[in-house]
Amino acid sequence: MKFFVDTADVSEIRSLAGMGLLDGVTTNPSLIAKSGRRMSEVIAEICDIVPGPVSAEVTATDLEGMLKEGRYLRGIAPNVAVKVPLTEAGLSACRALAAEGTMVNVTLCFSAVQAILAGKAGATFVSPFVGRLDDIGQEGMQLIRDIVQIYRHYPSIRTEVLVASIRNPVHLLESAKLGAHVATLPPAVLKQLFKHPLTDRGLEAFLADWAKTGQSIL
Ligand code: G3P
Repeated sequence: MKFFVDTADVSEIRSLAGMGLLDGVTTNPSLIAKSGRRMSEVIAEICDIVPGPVSAEVTATDLEGMLKEGRYLRGIAPNVAVKVPLTEAGLSACRALAAEGTMVNVTLCFSAVQAILAGKAGATFVSPFVGRLDDIGQEGMQLIRDIVQIYRHYPSIRTEVLVASIRNPVHLLESAKLGAHVATLPPAVLKQLFKHPLTDRGLEAFLADWAKTGQSIL
């Protein structure tokens, strides 16, 4: 399973990339706004740090505008994946950009039929948002289960399921069990994956016993 990080915070990305954990990065207009920086600069910097796909989202809502922005964004670096919303115009833009050899991430997917459309439009990734579905009392993971199952029936769909809006390690665990291709994790959730109280307690006990021996390995 590929791990992407969902942030535009370059220092976070640098530190996580140093741990060898990152296969890619996703951003969105809200995350760029949070960074307080110019989008083109941030995306260029991220693309230098992480060689895998880096999603940069268009903000135009019409086809022509999306194509202009998408072509500009993909010109920033060869590993840019242009992110478009799951709308009629977004899917047309996806089809056109994919035909030009650009990676496209179709975002804001909230139903399995929307994911079928993204697959048919030649998306490289489709981003179903699990946390936002949970927030409104629907089961986010059911959407992942449905999309993975449907895509498996149709090998001609090459779109990867990129689980987004992940809020906790259980979302990641369930996504991995279902065979989703990619999870994009907020940095805080990615760091939570390392943690287990028994690991901390066990290490503490080992070190205490080791200290009693008076030995040192080297
Ligand atoms: O980048 C898309 C998605 O991961 C956003 O997550 O937490 O804002 O619902 P969230």
